[in-house]
Amino acid sequence: AIMTPPPMPSALKFELHAKCSTTKARAATLTLPHGPVPLPIFMPVATQASLKGLTPEQLADTGCRLCLNNTYHLGLKPGQATLDAVGGAHKLQGWNHNILTDSGGFQMVSLLKLATITEAGVRFLSPHDGSPMLLTPEHSMALQNSIGSDIMMQLDDVVATTSPDRARVREAMLRSVRWLDRCIAAHRRPEVQNLFCIVQGGLDLELRRECVRLMVERDTPGIAIGGLSGGEEKDAYCKVVDTCTDLLPEMKPRYVMGVGYPEDLVVSVALGADMFDCVWPTRTARFGNAITSTGVLNLRHASFATDFRPIDPACTCPVCRPRDSLPASSSSSLSQIPGFGLTRASLHHLAAKETVGAHLLTMHNVHYQLSLMAQMREAILEDRFPQFVRGFFAGLYGGRK
Ligand code: GUN
Ligand code: ZN
Repeated sequence: AIMTPPPMPSALKFELHAKCSTTKARAATLTLPHGPVPLPIFMPVATQASLKGLTPEQLADTGCRLCLNNTYHLGLKPGQATLDAVGGAHKLQGWNHNILTDSGGFQMVSLLKLATITEAGVRFLSPHDGSPMLLTPEHSMALQNSIGSDIMMQLDDVVATTSPDRARVREAMLRSVRWLDRCIAAHRRPEVQNLFCIVQGGLDLELRRECVRLMVERDTPGIAIGGLSGGEEKDAYCKVVDTCTDLLPEMKPRYVMGVGYPEDLVVSVALGADMFDCVWPTRTARFGNAITSTGVLNLRHASFATDFRPIDPACTCPVCRPRDSLPASSSSSLSQIPGFGLTRASLHHLAAKETVGAHLLTMHNVHYQLSLMAQMREAILEDRFPQFVRGFFAGLYGGRK
């Protein structure tokens, strides 16, 4: 008899609820070891232990049930021995919901410009003492096993999307496949932690197709599309996502890495992607920027000093929600929490003084992103996603501030 290889163990369940009839948008539920996550989803980035400025409770209050941590940061501080002693990042952070960890190499290549890549792994100088270090696929997996993340990312070789060197882009794509095999072999807990592959290949659609074929064969529980949002043209970005989703298995989650502008989220969902992450919503909050349905407002601008409207009149986050009168229509657990009812003017004055203003804007921005994803999901489920997309862009480009 012909023996087929045993399927790769997985620690997730993917339920597809609805597909848009005119675009490739999907509504699904991804059940991970720390609970269900509605798809499509935006995942905020919590760099060190907690999301900058928010407690785990406040992060959960934005509706977040899956956030991102970096293997790179946790591996340096507190380090693997402490993670093992505490029993992983969920316990360390007091976060009882899901965590996704990026593998670390990408952060080192983009943060420390001095990182170099060889077949062995990513070489870099320790930011602590300058000593040479090497992050291998095996070491990244060991760290992510100690972190205990619900979704782990493979170590990948990422080339700038704008690189004209096709031979280097091809080498990075094939190396990423070889590193995926090393990650699969090194994974010690496939029945409780999900390893995702990362499709590379730059803006070359032939390389992307080849990479998808090679990686889909490896049968990981989920699939990421990497190497994007590095300053490429929107048109080139869309062609890559569209080409990949056409070839990906329907019954697995698809994660486009590093995407977070609202308009890119809407377009990418239409192209069949389910998961996204980006530091932009939280980082931009610290510069006084509020994301709204009519565009980004810089609340440090003098014109907001006497603007007594909420940040976004349509927003139901704790910052924007009126103090007393809670919206009767709100059915989420958030409706139990009294709102602050703060205005653009309040935030203008607070944002000038940093911390509190930045924390409140972080809460609003993360809530905005999650609520945008929830609205898309509702629209897909109710078979009106194209109307939603038209309304979204009309609000963004046709509306008033
Ligand atoms: N974050 C944004 N893009 C990427 C990518 O291509 N690879 C990894 N590992 N992380 C990313
Ligand atoms: Zn708000």
